[in-house]
Amino acid sequence: MSPLKGPYHVVNTRPEHFDGIQALTQLVYPGSPPWSKAQLQSHLDIFPEGQFVVVDDDTQVVIGMAASLIVWWDDYKFTENWTSFTDAGMFTNHDPEKGRTLYGAEVMTHPKRRGLGVGKLLYNARRALVEQRGLLRIRAGARLRGYHTHAKDMSAEQYAIQVAKGTLNDPTVSFQISQGFHILAVVEGYLRHDPESLGWAAVIEWINEKVATPEDWSHRDPKFDPQG
Ligand SMILES: CC(C)(COP(=O)(O)OP(=O)(O)OC[C@H]1O[C@@H](n2cnc3c(N)ncnc32)[C@H](O)[C@@H]1OP(=O)(O)O)[C@@H](O)C(=O)NCCC(=O)NCCS
Repeated sequence: MSPLKGPYHVVNTRPEHFDGIQALTQLVYPGSPPWSKAQLQSHLDIFPEGQFVVVDDDTQVVIGMAASLIVWWDDYKFTENWTSFTDAGMFTNHDPEKGRTLYGAEVMTHPKRRGLGVGKLLYNARRALVEQRGLLRIRAGARLRGYHTHAKDMSAEQYAIQVAKGTLNDPTVSFQISQGFHILAVVEGYLRHDPESLGWAAVIEWINEKVATPEDWSHRDPKFDPQG
């Protein structure tokens, strides 16, 4: 019997979802340690409204998950890695007082439910949260998951430029671009032990047009423009 049929919905993560999130992580990142319960509980203690799961209505299986925190971007170097932006996944660096950036620490969809709008539901929830709180933007490090198949032929930046223009398809970053994100830069050593991206990630951004000023768009390098 397949546990993966039926409609689904997005809700804020609760402790009863932790086992499902751990099972999902093991499917999505086999061989890597899953989100620990200490990390997931820390997310709920610190910023419960920033944590989302998509749950199958029939089976209650967790088929998608997104975890976020708010950061004050000036506290970080542009090139810092996932561990630094998330305080090793604990989110204790969450800074809702000064921060105007929702940082996407995780988004994942069950491998058998991809391409059905689960990721989009999670991003709709993130964008709604940004708009409700009047935040400026969402930023994240999006691993260049398909880069290992092109690494012999081009640099990670050349690969990212082609993904931005749509001449190459990346299983992660093409999804982010379809969700209105723009590549700001390409960084090395973001997820150091990821065999698919070889550690390379694109720093990506979605801007809340309702609060942004012209200055807020000025970080964008035209080389990553879709039409550039
Ligand atoms: C990236 C990921 C979350 C996408 O989730 P998903 O549920 O399959 O995405 P959706 O079905 O909601 O797709 C939303 C949009 O993205 C597009 N999209 C999704 N995957 C795509 C791909 N590989 N290439 C191009 N577009 C893609 C869809 O066509 C859809 O476009 P639309 O809005 O124009 O209809 C999923 O592939 C995943 O879990 N990957 C592994 C984990 C991971 O790498 N996470 C990111 C960590 S940085």
